[in-house]
Amino acid sequence: MTSQGLRTHTCGELRASAVGAAVAVSGWVDHVREMGAALVFVDLRDRYGIIQVAFDDSVSDALRAEARGLKPESVIHVGGSVRARPEGQVNCERATGEVEVLAESLEVLSAAATPPFEQVAEKVSDELRLTYRYLDLRRAGPTRALKLRHDVLLALRKSLDAGGFTEIETPILTKATPEGARDYLVPSRVHPGKLYALPQSPQIFKQILMVAGQDKYFQICRCFRDEDLRADRQPEFTQLDLEMSFADEEVVLAVVSEVIAQAVAAARGEAPAMPMPRMTWHDAMARYGSDKPDTRFGVELSDVSALVKDSEFGVFKNCVAGGGVVRMLAAPGGSSAFSRKDIASLEGVAKEYGAKGLAWMKVGDGGVLESGSSKFLSETEAAALVAATGAAPGDLLLAVADSFGTSAAALGAVRLELGRRLDLVDRDRLDFLWVTEFPLFDRDEETGALSSAHHPFTAFEEQRPGQLEDDPTSVTSRAYDLVVNGIELGSGSVRIHDSDTQQRLFRTLGLSDAEIEDKFGFVISAFRYGAPPHAGFAVGLDRFVMVLAGEDSIREVIAFPKTAQAADLMVGAPSRVPAAQLAEAGVAVLEPAAAGKPATAGEPAAAGGSTDG
Ligand code: AMO
Ligand code: AMP
Repeated sequence: MTSQGLRTHTCGELRASAVGAAVAVSGWVDHVREMGAALVFVDLRDRYGIIQVAFDDSVSDALRAEARGLKPESVIHVGGSVRARPEGQVNCERATGEVEVLAESLEVLSAAATPPFEQVAEKVSDELRLTYRYLDLRRAGPTRALKLRHDVLLALRKSLDAGGFTEIETPILTKATPEGARDYLVPSRVHPGKLYALPQSPQIFKQILMVAGQDKYFQICRCFRDEDLRADRQPEFTQLDLEMSFADEEVVLAVVSEVIAQAVAAARGEAPAMPMPRMTWHDAMARYGSDKPDTRFGVELSDVSALVKDSEFGVFKNCVAGGGVVRMLAAPGGSSAFSRKDIASLEGVAKEYGAKGLAWMKVGDGGVLESGSSKFLSETEAAALVAATGAAPGDLLLAVADSFGTSAAALGAVRLELGRRLDLVDRDRLDFLWVTEFPLFDRDEETGALSSAHHPFTAFEEQRPGQLEDDPTSVTSRAYDLVVNGIELGSGSVRIHDSDTQQRLFRTLGLSDAEIEDKFGFVISAFRYGAPPHAGFAVGLDRFVMVLAGEDSIREVIAFPKTAQAADLMVGAPSRVPAAQLAEAGVAVLEPAAAGKPATAGEPAAAGGSTDG
């Protein structure tokens, strides 16, 4: 491909058709092998592949000695000719394996110091890899992930462009947007004492672009959220953000499904089945105990409250009497697959999600329940439970008695754990699912405070006038999520577009009129000057590429990711800044102790101790 500069070919592109050609190749020394005094092989690597270079007795002893002494990761330039490898020495595992370059000249362009880890070594800590990310990225895996990411972004841009969308950039230095996480704040030299916030998403700007008549907007944009990090969360991440005027749920779901399908086709060569299935939030919680169900396997939850409300088992009976529910699932083959210790650890999972326990019963021959809590159940109750859960002999019934929310969360988590332990998940599958009809609000069980389940610009359906004010938690929103393999890939909603409704919603959230004016006055004001009905969506791109790459952490598909402590170990960010710079920015810094943090917090070197994912 390259015909100029320091190479005629990349290391990955030479094939049998090039035999006899004079070539120049440049790259990193992957490996040096000495084959006796008269022959040295150097495996030369770049991001396209590896080519074997032979230094034989056609070059001087001095040149061969130089080749022999090459340090791994040094960058070299080799001139020579392509020759076929003798039969029996073809390397079928390498695209270039039929040929090698017979070297005539060698130049070291950049000698490498001994690297802190070997490229091929398996047990290299994440800290070391991230500190020397430039070495880590030379590996084939990360290189493939970055290329896949490029292919996905390109496919998304092409398909949105074809759909008439315009990419419009929005500010990074802005005012806090209410997406639910903490903001990253940026001081202002020009306005001492005042701060910008980095956007948690371009939510307000994209809505204002609709008011501004831009009709179909998209952006591949960076978002910033100061929240607890996990394998699928980074403090800065990328969204495919879009918004459309005069659109409703159906339009957005169709557009997003299509755009996602095209990107999947670009990445995998095969588009997912269309239309993507849908499920209401209520059904998802009832059947899978999750608002982002992994539908690659069954093991669904059943509500058995009515079947056990009069049972002798106090745990079940009292829970139902108190307005709670009893949910149960059947772990296939769980009777013999799990020991008492395994069951206790499953109970531990349920408890992590707030359950008080995990009742269990084995399904014996003929569907008779045995051991565990079965002794408290009548024959009729046992038979009804087996029928309700569809359990077969050999299965293990597991139940949680609690509120709708806690029983869902706990048994939903147990279900996922069963998926892993019983190997029920086909990892090659991509199961997309639209989840619709979310509740508008969440209520904090401890403080009683209401918060938006999605964000406060989400439109809602009232069954009767005043429902928002009288019974807010019963109101259904017009939000929707796209889920893939149990991961929340993206979310969006039809928006509120009239200022009175927007104000009602803010008031329901407990904001005073003065606070509404101060924080969102410009949005309310914009809605007064002719706002079209509009709706939109945002896809978490890192998660999308992670799933397409078959990875378990978004760090694997980000060139320079941060650790679980939000540190960049390579550049050493965040870092202290000189006092003069702080003064200029109008910032006084609390010492860690005064800020309630351990003395090392925020120092990457110390923060590198653990990384997730
Ligand atoms: P939401 O907050 O649900 O919606 O974010 C949309 C998607 O972005 C991804 N995501 C993240 N990815 C990596 N690291 C994070 N910390 C992180 N946080 C979120 C998820 C998520 O589904 N403005 C609305 C969208 C809209 O209404 O149009 C929004 O940002 O995949
Ligand atoms: P206990 O009566 O607390 O000894 O519990 C008897 C069994 O019921 C144990 O297996 C507990 O894990 C289980 N259990 C206790 N509370 C609950 C609950 N709320 N839901 C389901 N199982 C429970």
